[in-house]
Amino acid sequence: PMLDSEMLARDGVFEGVDLTALAAVEGTPLYVYSPAMIRTRYRALRHALAGLDAGICYAVKANGNRAVLELLAAEGSGADIVSGGELQRALRAGIAAERIVFSGVGKSVAEVEAALAAGVGRFNLESLAELETLQSVARRRGTVARASARINPDVDALTHAKISTGRAENKFGVSIGEARSWFASAQRWPDVRLDGLHMHIGSQLLSLEPMHEALARMADFARTLLAAGSELACIDVGGGLGVRYREGEKAPSAEEYAAAIRHALGWFEGRILVEPGRWLVAEAGLLLSRVLLEKQGDTRRFLVLDAAMNDLLRPSLYDAWHDIVPLPVDGSGPQERVAYDVVGPVCETGDTFATARQLPRCQAGQLVAILASGAYGASMASNYNSRPLPAEVFVDAGRYAVVRRRQTLDEMLAGEQSTADWTSP
Ligand code: LLP
Repeated sequence: PMLDSEMLARDGVFEGVDLTALAAVEGTPLYVYSPAMIRTRYRALRHALAGLDAGICYAVKANGNRAVLELLAAEGSGADIVSGGELQRALRAGIAAERIVFSGVGKSVAEVEAALAAGVGRFNLESLAELETLQSVARRRGTVARASARINPDVDALTHAKISTGRAENKFGVSIGEARSWFASAQRWPDVRLDGLHMHIGSQLLSLEPMHEALARMADFARTLLAAGSELACIDVGGGLGVRYREGEKAPSAEEYAAAIRHALGWFEGRILVEPGRWLVAEAGLLLSRVLLEKQGDTRRFLVLDAAMNDLLRPSLYDAWHDIVPLPVDGSGPQERVAYDVVGPVCETGDTFATARQLPRCQAGQLVAILASGAYGASMASNYNSRPLPAEVFVDAGRYAVVRRRQTLDEMLAGEQSTADWTSP
């Protein structure tokens, strides 16, 4: 299933749930997710990868909500984690430790310890310093850690600069030359079993060309390593598969993505991992918000919502486009279209969801849905402007379940204290 935005505009219903009634009970801003859509995406990807010895490690950062992780765990998904916090989320949701890969350019010793203690499947290593840390922690714990070298293939992912990760000037991964020297002297790290390659060139890839290029480089390198007698059990191609945020955009299908992997790595006899985040959850979610007021400025017309950049940061941070759908209001007919700057109440000009967006005329109190907000929405939310974190719900077949209740003011303020006790460190 796919969210039908015309139907949403006409009926205000998502997965059989009337969003006006939902907002009346649960309040706004509210993240609303369809578990059926997430499940369908997961199964479609599984299906596309059939025939390959491939595993899906969901990138928890896209949406780490417990119910989302539990749903994916039940489907058999693994996880790609980047912190001790994500490790805890994944384990508590029931994702098997051996299906967890630990990525990230700066893992702390404590995080490496926790991951080894939990028995995570694999570390994706991004520097020599990290390889050495892993060696010493594994030695101390009397265990052998499995690891992949994250290659920086130096390709331009053709996506937003802030989410491109595969250029030589980016902080991520190591050059193929450096990785080659790691494998050549692997005996220097006897408690690390370096038997994998990893890459992740960027996020929201709408063209598979950079993926083809990077996969080809990775495949060449893998062949060289095997020819040199290195052990190679796993190749992890990262995440990045883009989604359609905007009419006219065309995202690659799961089949096209899988075909690119098959084309480059079909010969490889080990395990292949993919780390999708956005593709699995983005389009399954929307952010429901209420119009606080309409404001006519000297030169622009503003629509002020009760959601803000602290709830959904993507438009502010990446100038990202999200479709905005005003929901129907009882008793009001079709409205003329007007150009709105859709903004939140936060005290920054960057708190803007859309500029000069053509929308049907809206009124105070009306609900709007900000679409494709299931990925990097709630997971990037903050308390900026002392705004409590929004609630999150699942909707399915006319019913809903709260999967994260709205943060209370007390919860937001917990942990702060006055300077009653001064001590020396
Ligand atoms: N694997 C690694 C090592 C990653 O760094 C990422 C994302 C993924 C997998 C998942 O990528 P995906 O399939 O979701 O594209 N906040 C940004 C996106 C940042 C992505 C960071 N890394 C946004 O809202 O567009």
